[in-house]
Amino acid sequence: MKWVKTLALATALALTASGCGTLVSKDADYEGSITFSLALGPDSHHAAGAYAFAERLAELTDDRISVDYYYNNALGGEREVVEGMSINSIQMGMASTGPMGGFVRSFMLFDMPYIFRDLDHVYTVLDGEIGEELAAEFEETASVRIIGWTENGFRYETNSVRPIRTPEDLQGIKHRTQESAAQIQTWRAFGTDALPMAWPEVYTGLQQGVIDSQENPIATIADVNFQEVQDYIAMTQHVYSPAPMMISSRYFETFSEGDQEAILAAGEYATGIQREASAEAEAAALQELLDAGMEQTEIDREAFEEAAQPVIDDWREEIPRDLIDRVIATEAEPGAAATEQEGTS
Ligand code: MLT
Repeated sequence: MKWVKTLALATALALTASGCGTLVSKDADYEGSITFSLALGPDSHHAAGAYAFAERLAELTDDRISVDYYYNNALGGEREVVEGMSINSIQMGMASTGPMGGFVRSFMLFDMPYIFRDLDHVYTVLDGEIGEELAAEFEETASVRIIGWTENGFRYETNSVRPIRTPEDLQGIKHRTQESAAQIQTWRAFGTDALPMAWPEVYTGLQQGVIDSQENPIATIADVNFQEVQDYIAMTQHVYSPAPMMISSRYFETFSEGDQEAILAAGEYATGIQREASAEAEAAALQELLDAGMEQTEIDREAFEEAAQPVIDDWREEIPRDLIDRVIATEAEPGAAATEQEGTS
């Protein structure tokens, strides 16, 4: 069914493309638009990155190339969008790395608890050798090119039972995970009664008490109004969730060399802007949750890291090229986050 839907979209988009611009030819500079799929809405930090991409691309191509946005998964869920870019029925998109572990085992890295220490560490890893290696592997396997490590950000636990400071506080709490073996194992190691649940069922699950707890980036938590059904937020920062900006490799290859350079430069520029928007969205959303009456707690990180260690040990061999240990061993460039943002303004 998924592929049927993707092919239907391919046809629709081909028709749209033929109506809104000159078809791409490798020998000539392109004049027309690129379709861009977004999982979030027009005011989101994802969209801020997409707008920055479009602005810089227009500047670099004398307004020859514009971008058409499709918000809120209008072209399909994250998996369908990645599959769509793989076969060039969707041209560009930004999506969380959740489904990508299914394409490339290395992306399970982003399900590993407590391997990223802070944003300086994250950006040093993703903007360096490891980020390049992951992007190259993804392009080779899925035919999708990552042109910027944009993000959802760190994830945090919320619940309706009690404030959380240590894993002991989580004992017996019914916690929802994404459909990932590593996440279920992690939240069992933290002491919860962990069960996987599809995202669209989570709000109702929390409301009806089928689950007490969930975890997500703060901007997402506020976006879906979990403050209505959750009382406590713990600053767990247990995993970091990228949402890279991507382009179909087959589509990218049809551009002239000059236009390819412009697309890559616009992606790099947009990455800094999107990260900045993500940090702003997180701060504003946290305030919104606190204003709604949620109680915020800082956690004993060492205790959580210790509880997570058996999970890391089990997955060390499963995730290729010593990636877990190489991430942990990477020294954060102090100010990497700030440098990235300054470099864009
Ligand atoms: C989830 O928890 O399933 C996702 O983080 C929700 C999302 O896609 O924003």
